[in-house]
Amino acid sequence: MAKTLEVYLHDQLIGQLIQDDGGQTVFEYANAWLDRPGATLLSVSLPLRKERFSRNECRGFFAGILPDETKREIIARNLGISARNDFAMLERIGGECAGAVTFIPTGEPLPARDYRYRVISPKQLADIFKELPKRPLLAGEEGVRLSLAGAQDKIAVRIDGEEISLPLGGAPSSHILKPSIERFAGVVFNEAFTMQLAGESGLATARVEVRESHKIEYLSVERYDRTHIQSGTGITLDRLHQEDFCQALNIVPEMKYQKEGGPSLKQCFELVRGVSSAPVVDLARLLDFVIFNYLIGNNDAHGKNFSLLYHDAGTVNQQIRVAPLYDAISTVYYPELSNDMAMKLGDAYQPERVGPRDFEKLAEQAGLAKPLVRLRVPELALIVLDATAKVKINQDVAQKVAALIRARCEKTLKRFSS
Ligand SMILES: Nc1ncnc2c1ncn2[C@@H]1O[C@H](COP(=O)(O)OP(=O)(O)O)[C@@H](O)[C@H]1O
Ligand SMILES: [Mg+2]
Repeated sequence: MAKTLEVYLHDQLIGQLIQDDGGQTVFEYANAWLDRPGATLLSVSLPLRKERFSRNECRGFFAGILPDETKREIIARNLGISARNDFAMLERIGGECAGAVTFIPTGEPLPARDYRYRVISPKQLADIFKELPKRPLLAGEEGVRLSLAGAQDKIAVRIDGEEISLPLGGAPSSHILKPSIERFAGVVFNEAFTMQLAGESGLATARVEVRESHKIEYLSVERYDRTHIQSGTGITLDRLHQEDFCQALNIVPEMKYQKEGGPSLKQCFELVRGVSSAPVVDLARLLDFVIFNYLIGNNDAHGKNFSLLYHDAGTVNQQIRVAPLYDAISTVYYPELSNDMAMKLGDAYQPERVGPRDFEKLAEQAGLAKPLVRLRVPELALIVLDATAKVKINQDVAQKVAALIRARCEKTLKRFSS
């Protein structure tokens, strides 16, 4: 029999996800939503219309909310569902997601009615981190319904001063925590360094810091898709909607790399040009992200590591902007990781082949002036080079990553001066 999940944007019912009799997951907007003045899209890939969206038309967005395949498989085994069943997965873990979307089984209370937080001690947090490889996103824990994309272990929590709590019943979180990983030495410090470097270089960046709980180091990332609002009962958390570039382009997560059919830089720039409410600023922002990722040696900048942020979603005042930078790591620090970039830069997948001509080609594809791009690369290389001295993370891996980035910036400056 067909089953439905109610899809909310903030606390508004926007549509239904339906698992039809054939087992296919399809989506339709609610009529009341379509009739509402100022109704907005859930995703760039889901234009407002009365007709249902087929599985192929909507899977990029909905599967894109869920974690990467390896994590999905473990979650599916733990919960006794199939890893390929997006509907069952969203039913179980789609409470607190990226952006302002929430999934509620039909007949259950509206979101916000059931919001609770459970305070966790530093020891409990450390125990959770140890458990995450076997229990991704804490799926199955009483009251926890959390879903975030990506392959790294992570949880989302609310941090309020020194107090850390787990959001229950789909309550909003304020931070994403990514614990250290044995396989990649010092990855927490690597990501902290590169992200703080981006901030010091003047790029819009998610705020990060390294923390420790009972000897487990972790990266604490402040969510840019959450805001604090003053209400009658004090300060509460509110959501901002977001979707990543793959979701906006209806590209399924299994195909996020360009070589597999994932988005190219040309498609990313076209997307931003087409939907941003401030295209001039956002095209420049995206260009800086691309150059920065090249300078720090981040080969994993695929379409799920760039997002669109929706301000005032669901109102006539909605504004779509490129979200701040997140998940930027110097992947070249780990030689075992792929040396190919997630997206082709000019004619090259391999960063060491990239030269001024590839950036000119990028300018062509992005619809930007060649001299602008040609000038911005060395300009940003100099800014990033100077900024490496301003990020003070006194840890071995961070220092080595800093040295590696300095060398890359110097090499780039040389190539662009000849
Ligand atoms: N600071 C942030 N604010 C809001 N959402 C974020 C933030 N950082 C990451 N996300 C969301 O969480 C997802 C997973 O985070 P990410 O750091 O990319 O993890 P991974 O390293 O596993 O890929 C991202 O795809 C994005 O949707
Ligand atoms: Mg990611």
